[in-house]
Amino acid sequence: MKAIIPVAGVGSRLRPHTFSHPKVLLNVAGKPIIGHIMDKLIAAGIDEAIVIVGYLGDMVEEWLKKHYDIKFTFVNQPERLGLAHAIWMCQPFIEEEDPLLIILGDTIFDVDLQPVIESPVSTLGVREVDDPRRFGVAVTEGGRIRKLVEKPDTPVSNLAIVGLYYLQKAAPLFSAIEHLINHEIKTKGEYQLTDALQLMIEGGEPFSVFPVHGWYDCGKPETLLSTNEILLRKAIPAKPYPGCIINEPVFIADSARIENAIIGPNTTIGEQAVITDAIVRDSIIGTSAKVAHIMINSSIVGNNASISGNPHEINIGDYSEIRVG
Ligand code: UTP
Repeated sequence: MKAIIPVAGVGSRLRPHTFSHPKVLLNVAGKPIIGHIMDKLIAAGIDEAIVIVGYLGDMVEEWLKKHYDIKFTFVNQPERLGLAHAIWMCQPFIEEEDPLLIILGDTIFDVDLQPVIESPVSTLGVREVDDPRRFGVAVTEGGRIRKLVEKPDTPVSNLAIVGLYYLQKAAPLFSAIEHLINHEIKTKGEYQLTDALQLMIEGGEPFSVFPVHGWYDCGKPETLLSTNEILLRKAIPAKPYPGCIINEPVFIADSARIENAIIGPNTTIGEQAVITDAIVRDSIIGTSAKVAHIMINSSIVGNNASISGNPHEINIGDYSEIRVG
């Protein structure tokens, strides 16, 4: 079974970190976002992935090929014209009768995929949310989706679409996307997957929903940190560091150096990072970053960045250097 993973976006909401790294390679709870997604897909028996790359796509391709031994097809989306357009680019690699599992590259999910890929009809992952105005929602009736509404002003449904889609057959989806592209039907300037799915629903294609209770967004600094916190709850305890206090849960890479420090809770420390005379909590510290003589929390420190002094909340990119007296 093929999974489609669109990761071509620039990740503007996660700048400065995404200036030098594609969003999906940002570390959360000890491995890149896409590593969490791939592990779930492989556990569900997915043996082929079509990855739509664009911005910093070579880095994504290299990382995936190095870490996973399944069949990959990398499809370039030269212009980011929207999710439906991204899926459209995969058409040459998909048979009309193929079932498709589409998963967004910036969402980590915790759901049993087996019943999803065995579903007798196409089905969309949803989660109940308190404030549906920020999401695309599915309006259902008798277990079937009646319509999809993007960011509803009136509360028509609280079932938010989470970015996990199972299509029983590829052909009707591609016809719907073709219609959008031929008629230049865009929403917010982009060819939207939600619009293509809505066309399919209007055309009589049956869709059900399945609940996704574990749905962890990684699209913004604050959601990256909250996802880090949630995923770390399953981390194995760190080894002891003499002269340091480790407040679990944490992930500390084996090659990191920790001296005279208090680490955690909810903290990821990357490979070769050096933390000395510092207190670090609720944070993600990148590969080869240096943190010294400082107390930080709710912070993301990029790879090779260096920080010392005493600010409390920071969000700095790769190779930054900050010295605060
Ligand atoms: P987002 O809307 O979150 O875009 O796309 P983004 O570029 O990743 O992040 P921001 O909004 O600039 O901060 C959701 C998913 O769809 C992919 C993105 O890579 C991301 O995994 N996508 C979106 C594409 O592959 N192509 C597109 O044209 C649009």
